[in-house]
Amino acid sequence: MKVLAINSSPRGKDQSKTELLLNSLVEGMRSANADVEVVHLRSKKINYCIGCYTCWTKTPGTCVLKDDMTRELLPKFLESDLAVFATPLYHFGVNAQLKTFIERTLPAIEPFIIEHDGKASHPLRGRHPLMVALSVAGFPEYSVFDQMSSHLRYLYNGALVAEIYRPAAETLVQPGFEKVRADILDAVKQAGTEIVQNFKISDDTMKRIKQPVIDLKTMCEGANVMWQTYIDAGVTPKEAMGKNVIKK
Ligand SMILES: Cc1cc2nc3c(=O)[nH]c(=O)nc-3n(C[C@H](O)[C@H](O)[C@H](O)COP(=O)(O)O)c2cc1C
Repeated sequence: MKVLAINSSPRGKDQSKTELLLNSLVEGMRSANADVEVVHLRSKKINYCIGCYTCWTKTPGTCVLKDDMTRELLPKFLESDLAVFATPLYHFGVNAQLKTFIERTLPAIEPFIIEHDGKASHPLRGRHPLMVALSVAGFPEYSVFDQMSSHLRYLYNGALVAEIYRPAAETLVQPGFEKVRADILDAVKQAGTEIVQNFKISDDTMKRIKQPVIDLKTMCEGANVMWQTYIDAGVTPKEAMGKNVIKK
């Protein structure tokens, strides 16, 4: 099975929780013999769709823009059996980098509109991979992913075979959370294996991925102390890393 894992976090691997989880997922997929390629959108040049519809009219299936999307990413995406969209939750949806990627997949669909179940849609031009969504968020409640999930389900319908959402992802890397973090990362790895083997994640694995790690009140108190400390010290979270800025 050919898998293309697309990571849209702008953060590097020292800081990105999307990448932290994606690494475990990929490890599990590879252990089930999937051929996985990971691409980081932060190192790619992808322009916005300009809405010219050249890909629907003059050059069907081919975008007029010449960048990493046209040259490399769209062909790889369409050739893969399974694609993973790995994104941080930004403003309760996929981030702009991933949204830009999604909009640039317009050449993959036909201009003609069909009616199905009282709704309009465009048929696919050719083959399309099955899809997996992976996302992380700062807030602790699982429902922060409702809008993203609803959007991706609407877009990809039956092709979306699995969704892995991890709230309180920033909390997971804090001291004191080592055990639960290890269990969650192990469950994400297991999910990778299950997706490759069965195209779905078992209830037990999903329960481990979703397990609550902190209550809302404690999380708010901890986060507010952290932000106030960064503000007082005049540092960003990245600059504070490994510097022991937060005194208890
Ligand atoms: C622009 C921006 C918007 C965000 N929006 C949300 C949000 O709507 N809900 C939430 O729970 N966390 C939100 N967060 C927090 C991130 O989802 C969280 O820090 C996540 O771990 C970042 O993933 P990364 O480390 O892979 O970049 C936001 C962060 C940024 C920078």
